[in-house]
Amino acid sequence: MRVKRLGESDLKHVKGIDSSFDVEQCLDYTKKSFGDKYVFEMSLAEHPSPFRKRFSHYDEDYMRMLSSFVKEGGSFEIEENGKCVAVAVTQCHKWNRSLQIWEFLVDRDYRGRGLGRLLMQTVFDYAKDMGMRSVFVETQTSNVKAVRYYEHMGFEIAGFDDGFYSNSDVENREVALFMRRSI
Ligand SMILES: CC(C)(COP(=O)(O)OP(=O)(O)OC[C@H]1O[C@@H](n2cnc3c(N)ncnc32)[C@H](O)[C@@H]1OP(=O)(O)O)[C@@H](O)C(=O)NCCC(=O)NCCS
Repeated sequence: MRVKRLGESDLKHVKGIDSSFDVEQCLDYTKKSFGDKYVFEMSLAEHPSPFRKRFSHYDEDYMRMLSSFVKEGGSFEIEENGKCVAVAVTQCHKWNRSLQIWEFLVDRDYRGRGLGRLLMQTVFDYAKDMGMRSVFVETQTSNVKAVRYYEHMGFEIAGFDDGFYSNSDVENREVALFMRRSI
């Protein structure tokens, strides 16, 4: 197993990884306002209709955007027996010294073996070398396993956007969560 810097020509490996995961739970999101008080709540619940999620946002436009981040040099992959089994794509925001993780994927068949920890440590080391003060990532209320994983790696929920993907994110139980960790 070896960690490599991701090159532009390696970006196609992102699509080759089986990044699917099973959604069995979710964080149920509600918001209420009472005059001058706003209450946002998220609580763990069983998903009413469990399903296997497959990311489907890798269109030409998105891949072109990722490519521009990969050029910066802060994206990595893990290879095992010549096959790419994990990928992290990041972007440095110099103005506020934070590193954004755009993609963080370990192939389904290779999970639970420490690859996610190794890849994340590589990202933390890179962020430190670049003088960043924090690392942040966007995930969803439907991806409780990822939320738990990021918490385990020192991230906290720092914010959310209940209209990030569509006009029915709340009904779809897929609200965007932003998680952050200091460096
Ligand atoms: C989330 C993901 C990256 C984790 O990768 P992984 O290789 O399975 O993680 P590791 O085996 O390296 O685990 C690292 C640590 O996190 C912990 N961990 C992993 N998943 C966890 C979970 N669901 N809940 C709690 N802890 C978890 C492990 O126990 C391990 O702890 P340790 O190192 O202290 O012993 C992987 O499951 C994945 O790619 N999921 C699908 C794609 C996805 O959702 N990506 C995130 C998109 S925002």
